[in-house]
Amino acid sequence: MIMLDVLNLMVFFENALALNDFSMNVEEGEVVGVIGSNSAGKTTLMNTLSGLIIDMRTKEKRRGGERITVYGKVVFDGEDVTETSPSERVKKGIVLSRERHPVFPESSVVENLKIAGYLRKKLQIHEAMDDVFKLFPALIHLRTRKAGFLSGGEQQMLAIGMSLVVKPRLLLLDEPLLGLSPMMQKTLVGAICNLKKDSGITVLLTEQFARPVLPIIHRGYVIENGMLTLNGTGKELMDNPEIKAAYFGV
Ligand SMILES: Nc1ncnc2c1ncn2[C@@H]1O[C@H](COP(=O)(O)OP(=O)(O)OP(=O)(O)O)[C@@H](O)[C@H]1O
Ligand SMILES: [Mg+2]
Repeated sequence: MIMLDVLNLMVFFENALALNDFSMNVEEGEVVGVIGSNSAGKTTLMNTLSGLIIDMRTKEKRRGGERITVYGKVVFDGEDVTETSPSERVKKGIVLSRERHPVFPESSVVENLKIAGYLRKKLQIHEAMDDVFKLFPALIHLRTRKAGFLSGGEQQMLAIGMSLVVKPRLLLLDEPLLGLSPMMQKTLVGAICNLKKDSGITVLLTEQFARPVLPIIHRGYVIENGMLTLNGTGKELMDNPEIKAAYFGV
């Protein structure tokens, strides 16, 4: 069943076109990837799917800054959510873990998880935290450490953990592997697989480098200059010579 349907998205920052007639979909239970190089439009896509773009648009308007225009549709569970606020989308189950997500550096790992789950009841938050520690055992002995003293990879685990405590149905991960060592990338890719297996969470992720993620995604979309250029199963993309040439560098 199609969970997320993205129809002919166009996003303008003033006259600059960041997404150009971009369409894609995600079926319930899938792990789907969006592969694109620098400034291809990955973050803009994630912001449009999570609704952050609506907040950005409002803020810019108030400041008299640049004009942000969104055309097209975002449909979630058959419902048009294009104009739905980010917090309402979180309630529906769409949760974004942002690229270089800011965690609260002066707060401990456990406190960060509690802050992220403030909407949830006490009992549920404890369960949700247990799930996070199950997924990322490396965080267990760091529970009381200030987030600011964690390594990049540990911060990324915490950031994803913070998205998980609100129990997403569709988890959006914007470049989750960015800046991480190959070792840490492996750990995270493994965790994303387990996430899907153990909690049935549907995942949509973006990446600049295809190599670490192609083996685990069911389907992928390639985006260039805001436009869809290719799509296929993870295997099809892996075997595609163009992809190999363009996105298999390090
Ligand atoms: N707030 C903004 N104002 C103006 N232009 C923007 C804004 N955000 C993004 N853009 C432009 O939109 C295009 C897409 O940017 P976006 O950040 O979505 O790409 P990206 O694929 O996430 O890139 P990266 O790999 O660097 O994270 C770029 O040309 C960028 O300059
Ligand atoms: Mg980006």
